[in-house]
Amino acid sequence: MMFGPMRYIGNKQKLLPFIRSALEALGMGSGTACDPFAGTAAVSRFLKRHGLAVTCGDLMQYSYVLQRATVECDVWPAFAGLKDVVRERPLSLGAVLRHLNRERPARGPVYRQFSPAGPHGRRYFTPRNAAKMDAVRETILRWWRGGGGGRLTEEERYILLASLLEASDRVANTTGVYAAFVKTWQPNARRPLRLLPPPLVAGTGRRCQAHRADALDVVINLGPVDLLYLDPPYNTRQYAAYYHIPELLASETPFPRLRGKTGLPPMDGKRSDWCRPGACEEALEALVALAPCRHILMSYNSEGIIPAAAIERIFKTHGRPGTYRALRQRYRRYRSDLDGQNRNYRGDVVMEVLHYVEKRRP
Ligand SMILES: C[S@@+](CC[C@H](N)C(=O)[O-])C[C@H]1O[C@@H](n2cnc3c(N)ncnc32)[C@H](O)[C@@H]1O
Repeated sequence: MMFGPMRYIGNKQKLLPFIRSALEALGMGSGTACDPFAGTAAVSRFLKRHGLAVTCGDLMQYSYVLQRATVECDVWPAFAGLKDVVRERPLSLGAVLRHLNRERPARGPVYRQFSPAGPHGRRYFTPRNAAKMDAVRETILRWWRGGGGGRLTEEERYILLASLLEASDRVANTTGVYAAFVKTWQPNARRPLRLLPPPLVAGTGRRCQAHRADALDVVINLGPVDLLYLDPPYNTRQYAAYYHIPELLASETPFPRLRGKTGLPPMDGKRSDWCRPGACEEALEALVALAPCRHILMSYNSEGIIPAAAIERIFKTHGRPGTYRALRQRYRRYRSDLDGQNRNYRGDVVMEVLHYVEKRRP
């Protein structure tokens, strides 16, 4: 997992070939798309690379950072404002990251809140990595805020923050989600924090746009698009509670009051209806009914809280007759045992489904 994508529930990185085959079957290699549950932005990046101009969104700020850095941004960062700070030439992204990797650890909020050296004894990061994260985050914010002369463009700031998010996830002492930390140090947590370039997709000339917003708001404010790709949460685990540490790292304000064993911030309206069995079906119906799109493709898991029959009914109600399809792919998922001291992985075979319909013309 050292250089892999961010560990994230529902990350579609491994399912991109499946999504690609669906796009190829639809003959879609250009046009516009919307991905309003972007998460790690893996699918948005793929769609952009595949030739589409993408509007993406998510409720979470860390997702917004990843979207801004790797989807909306279409230029390679020049870091012109860092000429007199970073000595290495050429002044590339790699050079800036090497500079940040050499930052001296500085004890700040991550160290106090999420390392065992702090008063709460939370064992998410080693004290050294936590203090490194504090130092890097503080430097990025100082370069950006103007304390250092306003040295970064907005894109450059998001690219550096994205690199910090991915680097910290690689050394987090968790089994993949932040709802708990492991009581002993795992090998990945002992490795030193190392910033690497995020997967930029630049120089395409395609205009893409990122949002931090509810999916329904993104869709309502959208002009007509060719493809609406939906990848909503499929279980009751709220992302705001499972990824609270990336969320805090991604925000530019001081940490709010944190509570409990895991240091949870207030949920701030980030609780999602898509994780609630009583509300998710209605949410899907509203989104599908209002979406100004030609094709709808929805990833959903065979264990999801919206029954497949309900998805089929909604798609058929709002789709052109005879166009609904469900494409299925089995895949093996490794689940980690959150409660165990030792990581016990169970291999489950899960069915990933792509529901497709062509939307009925108004
Ligand atoms: C299954 S994940 C998407 C994974 C993504 N396709 C990827 O490859 O990383 C679902 C995402 O929906 C977001 N989400 C949940 N409720 C939402 C809402 N009401 N509006 C927008 N995003 C929401 C979560 O924060 C999460 O990132």
